[in-house]
Amino acid sequence: MKLEIPEYILGIDPYKPGKPMEELEREYGIRDSIKLASNENPLGPSPKALEAARACLDAVHRYPDGRGWALVSKIAAKFDLQPDNIVLGNGSDEIIGMLTRVLLQAGDEVILPQPTFSMYDIMVRSVGANPVPVPLDHSLAIDLPAMRSRLTPRTRMVFLCNPNNPTGTVITRKQFEAFLHDLPAGIVVVIDEAYIEFVTDPDCVRGTDYLREEPAVVLLRTFSKAYGLAGLRIGYAVMPAKLSGYIHRVRQPFNTALPAQVAAAAALADDAFLQRTLQTVHAGLAYLQRSLDRLGVRHYPTQSNFFLVDVQRSGDEVFEQMLRKGVIVRSMSSYGFADMIRINVGLPLENERFIQALSEVLGIGSMPPDGQ
Ligand SMILES: Cc1ncc(COP(=O)(O)O)c(C=O)c1O
Repeated sequence: MKLEIPEYILGIDPYKPGKPMEELEREYGIRDSIKLASNENPLGPSPKALEAARACLDAVHRYPDGRGWALVSKIAAKFDLQPDNIVLGNGSDEIIGMLTRVLLQAGDEVILPQPTFSMYDIMVRSVGANPVPVPLDHSLAIDLPAMRSRLTPRTRMVFLCNPNNPTGTVITRKQFEAFLHDLPAGIVVVIDEAYIEFVTDPDCVRGTDYLREEPAVVLLRTFSKAYGLAGLRIGYAVMPAKLSGYIHRVRQPFNTALPAQVAAAAALADDAFLQRTLQTVHAGLAYLQRSLDRLGVRHYPTQSNFFLVDVQRSGDEVFEQMLRKGVIVRSMSSYGFADMIRINVGLPLENERFIQALSEVLGIGSMPPDGQ
């Protein structure tokens, strides 16, 4: 078969997801594996979301409402916005793709941090535009002044990830305002808040405070993390109404499934579940950090439900050895951190198992138990 694939598609490095538990169990003949690799919610889905999804199954012979009016109006009410400001996506991943299709032409430039969530780079390349990666600063935070210095007349978009995946650092209000100040018109600033619910730093910028026509700020949010609905695939963007009108031109007519829409609406109203999630994550994080300190293993501060661990040897090797103990983590070698792994907070027993497995892999010996 002869295929004429454009150069810019050949230049795409495919997205590498966290290893699925089923795959590990199949390949290694292991049972009871745990996954701390994709920043998912360890508690499972919101029970109210599950109930709502189940209750709608009788109606799935019909196409869903393409714009997801019921969910959109709940999101709009939550942020005191108009429904025209909200676009739903089959995960926020899909919205990244819709934005790049609407806003970019071949040869345009898009400034993004390096490293960050890799779908920005993939989607920018998929339309023939050029990513302009800007390294993080010495504390592994997004370097906004350096990003600003890379603007050119070809710059059309900027991606910011707050908290940044994989480093867990946040952008402050002051930094963000300095970045926006006098930004040339026509540049769209996308701020991805996939993990914003976990943030405790009062100085962290919230994109909802900056939604305006110029400069256009687009906010990305997801139900995959704090709301526990990663498998249903639903996220949303908040943006100026004029831009959402263009996004709807390229949106598939029924891009989000009915069970996803109703589950997301129920999850949004399930504050008890969100609070339980935050409590679990923050308590688990404190336990993990304390335990790593006791083992003498260096780790990085975070404002999210995941963080970097400096294993001081090949992250790929540690990933492999942890797999053999049934613990899936993420090696950071493809993010440019060869000696690091990233883990997310799990349930208390999962956190303990991770610490035990890591201490064995690193040859540090086992630790006396520390109540969580
Ligand atoms: C920063 C960031 N944005 C977006 C996503 C994608 O989320 P969704 O499941 O809504 O597509 C992820 C998933 O890991 C992420 O880390």
